[in-house]
Order: sequence, then C-alpha cells, then structure tokens
Amino acid sequence: MPRKVLVTGGAGFIGSNFIHYLLDRYDDISVINLDDLTYAGNLRNLADLEKDPRYFFIRENICNFPGLQTVFKKFEPDYVINFAAESHVDRSILDPDIFIRSNVLGVQNLLKLSLDCEIERMIQISTDEVYGSLGESGVFTEKSPLDPRSPYSASKASADLLTLAYYYTFNLPVNITRCSNNYGPFQFPEKLIPLTILHCLKGEKIPVYGDGLNIRDWIHVDDHCSAIDRVLTDGIPGEIYNVGAQNEMTNIEMVNTIICALKELRPDLPLTEDSIVFVPDRKGHDRRYAIDPEKIQKTLGWKSRMPVSEGIKTTVEWYLNNVNWLESVINAEYLHYYSVNYRIGNPLPKL
Ligand SMILES: NC(=O)c1ccc[n+]([C@@H]2O[C@H](COP(=O)([O-])OP(=O)(O)OC[C@H]3O[C@@H](n4cnc5c(N)ncnc54)[C@H](O)[C@@H]3O)[C@@H](O)[C@H]2O)c1
Repeated sequence: MPRKVLVTGGAGFIGSNFIHYLLDRYDDISVINLDDLTYAGNLRNLADLEKDPRYFFIRENICNFPGLQTVFKKFEPDYVINFAAESHVDRSILDPDIFIRSNVLGVQNLLKLSLDCEIERMIQISTDEVYGSLGESGVFTEKSPLDPRSPYSASKASADLLTLAYYYTFNLPVNITRCSNNYGPFQFPEKLIPLTILHCLKGEKIPVYGDGLNIRDWIHVDDHCSAIDRVLTDGIPGEIYNVGAQNEMTNIEMVNTIICALKELRPDLPLTEDSIVFVPDRKGHDRRYAIDPEKIQKTLGWKSRMPVSEGIKTTVEWYLNNVNWLESVINAEYLHYYSVNYRIGNPLPKL
C-alpha cells in the first residue's frame, strides 16, 4: 500500500519543489496537494504531474475546517506536511490579518485533524525568522529564544508553539523545521532573487532596501527539500530542526552576484551599477539571520549539497529559460502590491 502524503501549500514555491522531489525519488508514495491558490499558488508549477496517477490536487483553504475534514476522510493520509502560509514579510506589514488566519488558525485546523485522524507524522514548515534578528556575530540554534519582529514571523512562531502544544498535550507526532532563505525555480517575484532577475530583464531599476547590508543565509530549495525528507523519515517526534547551508550574504552581494550571472548569460542586457536603486528600508527590518544546522547534520546525517555560486547560476538560467512562467505570475494584483509597497510606480512592461 503506497504511503499517502498530504502536502498543504503545494502549489507555492517550496511546496511545488518538494512534491517534485518526493515523486522523483519514491515510487511507493502518493501525494495529495491541497492549496487554495492564492496569488502565490500556481498550478503551472506542477503541470508536468497532471497525468501522474500518484498525484492529486484539491483546491481548498486550510482555514475551512469542514472542507479540510472531507479531504482527510477521503484520502486518509499517513503524513501531513504544511507549507501553506502567507509567506511575504512586506505583505504582513501592509495587511497582517490574513497572516493570522492562514498561518495560525489554519495550522490549528491541520493539527486538530491530524490528531483526530491519527496521522503518523505532521511536519510544520517554519522559518528562521521566528528567532528574530542577530547582531554581527552568533548563529540561531534550536535553543535560541523566539523573538519574532514582523507580523509574518510572529504568526509563524505562534504556529510553532501551537504545534509543540499538540505534541506535549496530545502526543501528536510532530516536527518543526526552521529553514533559512530559499532560492530556486518557481519562486514568486516579490522575493529578492526573482525580483532582481525580473527587473534586470525588464530594464527596470532593482529596488534594494536601506543600505543593502542586511544579511540573509541562503539555501537552495532542493537542499531544503532533502532536509524535510530526512525529517519525515527519521525525525524524532516533538523535535525542532534548523535547516541552513551556511551561506551568509548581504542583500547587495546577492544582487551583484545575480547581475554578474546575468551579464555572462545575457550580455545584451544593459546592466550597470546604476541598475540598483536604494529605497526606504522595510519597517523593523531584521539585520542578520544565520542558521546553525549542526543538529540535523549530526542526528539525521543531512547536509546541503548545492554551493551557492553554482545554485545562483542555475537559478538565473532557470528564470531565463522560463520567462513565460515569470510573465504569467505578474498580474494586476502584483503590480498594485508592488507600487504600494515600494511607493514607486512601475509599469513592468511586457518582456
Ligand atoms: N521562501 C522561503 O525562503 C522560506 C524559508 C523558510 C520557511 N518558509 C516557509 O515555507 C512555507 C512555504 O513558503 P513558500 O516560499 O513556498 O511560500 P509561497 O508563498 O510561495 O507559497 C505558499 C502556498 O500556500 C498556499 N496558501 C496560502 N494560504 C493558504 C491557505 N489559507 N490555504 C491553502 N493554501 C494556502 C498558496 O496558494 C501558495 O501556493 C511557508 O510556510 C514559509 O513560511 C519559506
């Protein structure tokens, strides 16, 4: 009997990469992808799986308990992995409400049904942002205190506490993974890397917050997927696992790395230092993140494989080869969000 994995939020960036990762590696599983297809969800990410008999898609919102209950009853999943969330810090500053609904109340629904249906393991996909901001030194371990600073990270920290409460109170076999910043194919262009590529292709200035010296710790999405796979297979119930690849870079370093890769791959693009424009800083902008992945490395034998220089190059290549995908996700809603968030008009002409 194949194992059934309910992946929530599987039409988004990491979820769709994870579904591909699982189905590429295992013949004896089936995947139920439950996603409400918000602005960030896109079935084109999974178009190649439409005819795969091991893959099912259900459009549903994790906040709709009766709808979710029907799915649990119909498919009787063995595992639940929750990627579904509002995921963009800037949007949480503009409108926190939906972050509380999807990222907290939605998780409560998943936990309750996982318990009712005696799920073998529930994994809550969390983020390093729950730990807040670091100074010039130090790293986040699983024992670092929770200190979220944005409505987004506060909602994720709340969900983490709720998830642990289900372990301690009800013995629900849960895990939490807290990963650093991901990059790779199918990432919505509100996030730094696809946003930079998009603006370079459009000949528009690349907006960089503040002084550009905020530090993020980057990991290729495939490495994140392999870490989740290890936790799914061998994670100890109730444990939290930090996931990171120890690639700290300032935002400006990342933007310049992308510009360099683009100059090599598309020498026709008019890219110079003037391509960057510094814009007023994000409110409460965390200065530095850095993940210590020692626990998952030592206890589950996981390690990241993709060197960041190679990963960025292949990612830039992917977006260049998938300009249609990029174009398809830029709609009126995105353009409105963009102009409100950056307080600069940007028509983003067609590529
Ligand atoms: N992107 C990162 O760098 C990163 C790093 C660490 C952790 N995470 C976490 O990983 C998860 C996935 O992130 P992502 O970057 O793929 O996000 P994403 O925004 O690309 O995708 C989120 C998906 O969830 C779906 N969704 C949102 N609300 C929903 C709801 N109420 N019901 C059903 N579906 C809903 C969307 O339609 C979308 O398909 C999130 O929980 C995020 O907090 C992301």
